[in-house]
Amino acid sequence: MFVLKVVLLLLSPFIVLYWLLKTYVRRVDAKYRQQNGLRDDVKIIAFFHPFCNSGGGGERVLWVALRALHHKYPDYHYVVYTGDIEAKPEEIKAKAKKQFQIDLNFDISFVYLKKRYIVGDRLYPIFTLLGQSIGSVFLGFEALFQCVPDVYIDSMGFSFTFPVFRYIGGSRVGAYVHYPTISTDMLQMVTNTKTSYNNRAIISNSRVLTSGKLLYYKLFAYLYGLIGRMALVVMVNSSWTQRHVESIWKRKARTVYPPCNTDDLKRLSLQNKKELQIVSIGQIRPEKNHSLQVIAFKEFIDKLSSEGIDTQSAKLVIIGSCRDDEDRQRLNDLKQLSRSLDIESNVEFKVNIPYEELKDLIEESSIGVHTMVNEHFGIGVVECLAAGLITLTHASGGPKLDLITDGVNGFLATDSQSFCQKLYNIYNLNKSKLNDIRLNARKSADRFSEQEFETLFLTSIEEILH
Ligand SMILES: *[C@@H]1O[C@H](CO)[C@@H](O)[C@H](O)[C@H]1NC(C)=O
Ligand SMILES: *[C@@H]1O[C@H](CO)[C@@H](O)[C@H](O)[C@H]1NC(C)=O
Ligand SMILES: *[C@@H]1O[C@H](CO)[C@@H](O)[C@H](O)[C@H]1NC(C)=O
Repeated sequence: MFVLKVVLLLLSPFIVLYWLLKTYVRRVDAKYRQQNGLRDDVKIIAFFHPFCNSGGGGERVLWVALRALHHKYPDYHYVVYTGDIEAKPEEIKAKAKKQFQIDLNFDISFVYLKKRYIVGDRLYPIFTLLGQSIGSVFLGFEALFQCVPDVYIDSMGFSFTFPVFRYIGGSRVGAYVHYPTISTDMLQMVTNTKTSYNNRAIISNSRVLTSGKLLYYKLFAYLYGLIGRMALVVMVNSSWTQRHVESIWKRKARTVYPPCNTDDLKRLSLQNKKELQIVSIGQIRPEKNHSLQVIAFKEFIDKLSSEGIDTQSAKLVIIGSCRDDEDRQRLNDLKQLSRSLDIESNVEFKVNIPYEELKDLIEESSIGVHTMVNEHFGIGVVECLAAGLITLTHASGGPKLDLITDGVNGFLATDSQSFCQKLYNIYNLNKSKLNDIRLNARKSADRFSEQEFETLFLTSIEEILH
């Protein structure tokens, strides 16, 4: 009896707090509905997307999802929680239109969050993950205290807001995850550094540190898992993210690829290809490994020459953008490399060219090549597939997991020799086989179309909508 009394005494402040919060939230709901002229039975669907005006891939997902929902359920009331306090609703919609050609010509209620800074990483030099996560709980409360949704969808990875909306707001929670907050790779990395040191003094010193860090990561991963299981529906943007989310959240997640705009490229002709023209599309960044392309191309040319084949028409067209001086330096190094390999006349660089020119170049090229290791996804690769190029990519990351089936809709390689070998194999394929691969490539790009995204998103979210 005594124990029970103590427990009740200890718990009572929490019970009171819970009751107060629930009461307050009921008031917020009544007020919001009254201000917006919503009857009690009108469903409120809210997206938590504090950076909704950034114009990136994540925002494209948000707008396409909202448009699809509104199209199917026009009577619901749609809300976006955003921290872009300086942007008016019309401005946000205009940007979506300009940047993604997405018409948001229906009512969206933007609920502004003034405390977005508390989820920035500058605030937490150490324990950043935990700091940002706790920060997001507060931001979640700021959102909930303005509007209480029936359905809450986090589309920016602020998972620690789930309990706020589920238990205080009484909302049904869904999530679209682009990237896990903590991944099994990170845990692995800390574990590895722990065993890779061989200096004694360092071992004893750093062991405490690394074990400390490992413990922190593990604890965080455990919390993250608890939280992740509070969502009723979880979608992820790729197989890579699915693997990590499922292993840490210990639950099912459904892969719903983000929409890519491939319609334009699908209309390009497959006739009039220059047999020996290879195109490469990507920013001139180190991880894209353009030098591997140049070296493999050189080996390929040498192989053809040694068989007496005329290689004058062989071309590697490197299309890219340079953001800064470092990129421009890299570009010069690449030019230098092709000079020193004596293939200067076979390698063309097209930097910061307009979209129309890019399309023409893609249309006349036969092969698309992509050499980055462990690319998470590769929009550029999807574009090659949609354009019907014979696509040759590095056998890792998203291209291998999600995009290319070797020999079916494209090819995979690992180093300069195997890139060269695959180019040579492609050169030796007959017309009908090449055409099959081009058509397979186009078809496989449909998995990333807007229609496909909308269909999968709607069927996945449906169970929490009613
Ligand atoms: C998923 O999101 C992450 C983070 O924004 C991104 O790096 C990755 O390319 C995305 N995957 C797909 C399939 O778009
Ligand atoms: C580029 O590819 C080569 C050959 O596979 C590899 O040795 C090198 O590390 C790669 N560079 C980068 C930056 O990935
Ligand atoms: C083209 O090559 C494929 C195998 O790569 C073969 O099955 C097919 O019969 C060939 N077609 C012609 C017309 O030679």
